[in-house]
Amino acid sequence: VGYVGSPVASARPLEVVIEGLRRLEYRGYDSAGVALVGPSGVLATAKKAGKLANLVEEIDAHPLPDATAAIGHTRWATHGGPTDVNAHPHVAGDLAVIHNGIVENFAVLKAQLVADGVEFASETDTEVVAHLLARAYTETGDLTTAMGRVARALEGTFTLLAVHAAVPDTVVGARHDSPLVVGLGTGENFLGSDVAAFIAHTREALELGQDQVVTITPDEVRVTDFDGVPAQARRYTVDWDAAAAEKGGFRSFMDKEIHDQPHAVADTLLGRTDVSGRLVLDEVRIEESVLRAVDKIVVVACGTAAYAGHVAKYAIEHWCRIPVEVELAHEFRYRDPVVDERTLVVAVSQSGETMDTLMAVRHAREQGAKVLAIVNTHGSTIPRESDAVLYTHAGPEIAVASTKAFLSQITAAYLLGLYLAQLRGNMYADEVARILDELRAIPDKIQQVLDRAGRVREIARWMADTQSVLFLGRHVGFPVAMEGALKLKELAYIHAEGFAAGELKHGPIALIEPGQPVFVVVPSPRGRHSLHSKVVSNIQEIRARGARTLVIAEDGDEAVRPFADEVFYVPQSPTLLAPLLAVVPLQIFACELATAKGLDVDQPRNLAKSVTVE
Ligand code: G6P
Repeated sequence: VGYVGSPVASARPLEVVIEGLRRLEYRGYDSAGVALVGPSGVLATAKKAGKLANLVEEIDAHPLPDATAAIGHTRWATHGGPTDVNAHPHVAGDLAVIHNGIVENFAVLKAQLVADGVEFASETDTEVVAHLLARAYTETGDLTTAMGRVARALEGTFTLLAVHAAVPDTVVGARHDSPLVVGLGTGENFLGSDVAAFIAHTREALELGQDQVVTITPDEVRVTDFDGVPAQARRYTVDWDAAAAEKGGFRSFMDKEIHDQPHAVADTLLGRTDVSGRLVLDEVRIEESVLRAVDKIVVVACGTAAYAGHVAKYAIEHWCRIPVEVELAHEFRYRDPVVDERTLVVAVSQSGETMDTLMAVRHAREQGAKVLAIVNTHGSTIPRESDAVLYTHAGPEIAVASTKAFLSQITAAYLLGLYLAQLRGNMYADEVARILDELRAIPDKIQQVLDRAGRVREIARWMADTQSVLFLGRHVGFPVAMEGALKLKELAYIHAEGFAAGELKHGPIALIEPGQPVFVVVPSPRGRHSLHSKVVSNIQEIRARGARTLVIAEDGDEAVRPFADEVFYVPQSPTLLAPLLAVVPLQIFACELATAKGLDVDQPRNLAKSVTVE
């Protein structure tokens, strides 16, 4: 976060920056720090390992002087452990710098500096930047020019912000492969890794382009490239307000976001049909002839977004008869994948900033493939580098482990599948319309799942001491099982694994011992090719070996009862839409269990919400 304001409001820079960090803390939270410059002509800094609260305590104990400009940072450690010394900002003389990303050539740069007699205080790559910037400032006398010069010398990924005591009305930033947005105020201006940093103050924003330097003063925002040539940044108005990024009475963001899910799905469906009910995806700005010629779809994503892709594979293949591969973005990028002009790559990402996914997008485009992004965050990098974007309208997702974004990603990917099926003539319009109607009924059904969640919460609290939980599913229930396991790992630090139920007998069944809790996602018994009876057999197999079976089944499914220690019923829905319901009790289970263990469900240990390093 960066802030600069007129000298009248001298307490404001620190307040704005701390408040901004609070809203951004979900991005990384193993240490935090601030640097201030102002009328005193000195640079003041404070930094502390641990969560932001530690820094606030430190500042309360040792107040900082008045300021006109401030920068602040929360860290997710890459080079150097999460200690006070390694926390940002890093200082060289009268200059302080904060950094997101990794400076890959830092060892070479550091060796040169050390040879010149520079002494280093930390183990970070960032400190190199501080010394280089201080030197460039001394040589050029201008912080913007110095920033451009240093940025040109760095390899890797970075967002940098710097202040210097000699120019207390200025913050300078630069970005390369890592996000930075400007908030436009009156008599004050803001910088942030995302708009949440300043949304309480302004909704007017500038999205910086790749390789740009920005200089903010109270009354001016100047953007140049790394060579100092004036450059353009896109101006936009943020379409949500500060309230959307508040807990709104829930005990955690995670809890709130789980309850937001009916809206997240409904809003993602909104406005995507014309008056006659025909599906219209104007945003898919890829020529129809290209989309008709597509002979393979590859979904690239990480974490929860990848599981959304796994779910979508079943639907898109079924509706469009196009083979769909789903691959973790970091694996895809480095294995020389077979992609060409007839491949449609679908990049799924809540943040739109995940570096692994971004690199996969770039690689795919280099190979001639078209890339369509399914992303939640406007103004982020992945959509900018893709051929087209289908935005999910989940609203800001703050809790680190993803919930409502998952549901809206599945929804958006389904819209894409239906759109392609319509365009390529695989489905008649009335069939598409019928599925759209079923999708529109999903938000109410999710609400019913939420309303009935009392029992799953109770069981979760009872199970707070559990050491391991398994999850089974088949067909679309398989990725749901994997997502259920991921939620439990992320939130409750419990060993959990999701398996394809049919694979059980080929190995994992050896894990079953008396008392082992196993969640089973059971498909609807109503479908023509239902796998219901096969999954019921799987439940019997594990029950016979002593497992405690926790079953998710649809209303009216009595056949599962005899083999289930607990059944959590969800409303009936077509098989392909069932994941949008079945995952909800699993999210609630993980959230409740972690809360019962006294853990911070919004900021689980070691994780970060948007991982902007590879
Ligand atoms: C991180 C988060 C996960 C998330 C994944 C992908 O690992 O901790 O919750 O699913 O990134 O994030 P994206 O923003 O690309 O969806």
